Amino acid sequence: MQAAGMSGRIPQAFIDELLARADIIEVLGSRLQLKKAGREYKALCPFHSEKTPSFTISPDKGFYHCFGCGAHGTALGFLMEHDRLPFVEAVEELAGMVGLEVPREDSPAARVQRSHHELLAQAARIYRELLKDSAEAVGYFKGRGIDGPTAARFHLGYAPDAWDTIQQRLGGGPDAEQALLDVGLLTENERGRRYDRFRGRVMFPIRDLRGRVIGFGARVLGAGEPKYLNSPETPVFHKGRELYGLYEARQALRQITRLVVVEGYMDVIGLARHGIAYAVATLGTATTSEQLARLFRVTDEVVFCFDGDRAGRAAAWRALENALPEAREGRQIGFLFLPEGEDPDSLVAREGANAFEARLSQVQPLSDFLVERLAQAVDTSTVDGRARLAEQARPLLARLPAGVYRELLLEKLAGTVGLGAARLEKLLAAGDPRAGSAPADPRPPARARPRSGRASLVRQALLRLLHCPRAALEGPDPDFLATLDRPGAALLRAVIEDIRAHPQLTPAMLLEHWREHPEGRHLGRLLDTELLVDDDAAAEEYRDIMQRLAVDARRARIEQLSARSGALEEAEKAELRALIAASGR
Ligand code: UTP
Ligand code: MN
Repeated sequence: MQAAGMSGRIPQAFIDELLARADIIEVLGSRLQLKKAGREYKALCPFHSEKTPSFTISPDKGFYHCFGCGAHGTALGFLMEHDRLPFVEAVEELAGMVGLEVPREDSPAARVQRSHHELLAQAARIYRELLKDSAEAVGYFKGRGIDGPTAARFHLGYAPDAWDTIQQRLGGGPDAEQALLDVGLLTENERGRRYDRFRGRVMFPIRDLRGRVIGFGARVLGAGEPKYLNSPETPVFHKGRELYGLYEARQALRQITRLVVVEGYMDVIGLARHGIAYAVATLGTATTSEQLARLFRVTDEVVFCFDGDRAGRAAAWRALENALPEAREGRQIGFLFLPEGEDPDSLVAREGANAFEARLSQVQPLSDFLVERLAQAVDTSTVDGRARLAEQARPLLARLPAGVYRELLLEKLAGTVGLGAARLEKLLAAGDPRAGSAPADPRPPARARPRSGRASLVRQALLRLLHCPRAALEGPDPDFLATLDRPGAALLRAVIEDIRAHPQLTPAMLLEHWREHPEGRHLGRLLDTELLVDDDAAAEEYRDIMQRLAVDARRARIEQLSARSGALEEAEKAELRALIAASGR
């Protein structure tokens, strides 16, 4: 029940305190448009597309729930789902909002992670030192127009053309070597021989948002294959998550009004050298939604910069597809296509920062790029063409969160292809198996989910506890649940015991206690039924339900004992008599 695995490093009591302090309305209100509705708040659900709000937030209970798609959770869960943050980062984000410092339990996993960061930082220092000793490497950077301050800002370095630079300096014993392998600084051949991964290359340390070195990019000085060699995926380095240059941009700029996503390390550095300090690069992969969500936490405008050629256009389209879930009102996403044969590094060197920034303020908005591409591909004067348009647009629009932005985009598309917005909507709904009003979410609508009648009493008790945990403090002792043969009885008992051990639990804390538990998902899903607003009623109903469950448990036990009445132990006979007496009352 304690948050296990990676999150085990953060004590559960801290999560409780965090949820007690955090205001779910404040957290969600900065990301959604909320409307007050009685004691609750409503919004258009950000997790499926809808026209009328079924996304409900209860500030008293500290959780949200969508009656349309079943999404639910606490302020913490929302940060994970909506901002796509891993658990630990969501905790950090929320702690930052309420001004708490995250305490760490010093687990073995945390120690290993720290030692990995430390090794990588040492390697970066070594490479930096070695750059100073290499006239060739310094000459290479100079030849590419990089000055000393820029090299210092990005901690650029050099790995000499030797097999054992790092192995010699940081190796020292089998454990140390294993750690170097783990972080990707050493590599191993088939015969088990270990040697430096990076040799004869200029080095680009990649840092995370906190400035910790997590990996390296490395370029050959002249011609040679591969041109760039990157650290492999390691426990501390995940390419789909990190962005090269984001840390450096945040260091350089107090306020980041715009971020430019480019393709290469040298593009980031070349732009920074010319005073454009707000470029970041993906690490040889298409931009993921997760990366984009990360960018939008520090800025409202993101420009993707691509080559103007075919490959560049294809890459831009992939970026667009991944950007859709993050598109919404108040966020600008633009595309800049560069002249043939240029990349940001070469272009800014040739035409200067002003000209490059002028390009950046005239980018193609995401909506334009999307509509242009869709409209180009089809002829809407024919039935076939319209059907094809709907087919192509549907999956794209489904990735957009509901809201004004999506509506505007639909209108724009309708206008461009010469259809009314209503007509286009109908077309979009027509071939859709989920049709019309149904959510564009793979989860089935909550209300349609089958309910098990047998389990319903247990579920009803759990549901009431979820809304009003304190009910468990007054209700009957839960031990009888151990003999009750019903789905969920064990979970109910554990939840009651959890509440009794932590009498101050709020509904949100309760949900978070069960996050890592396989049964935890069942708990959250219970919210699908309804939001009970009246806590007193919930407490009273809970007592009634528990009484009925107790009767059931007694009856079952009586049956069980009576069935073997001839062979009962003395204690069992006494139990049976007591049970019969109790049920007669
Ligand atoms: P490019 O090949 O476009 O090179 O790679 P570039 O950035 O213009 O490099 P310079 O100017 O010749 O130094 C763009 C990015 O793709 C990844 C790297 O992240 C690189 O920065 N890449 C490229 C690799 O990972 N491996 C390669 O072999 C080439
Ligand atoms: Mn280049």
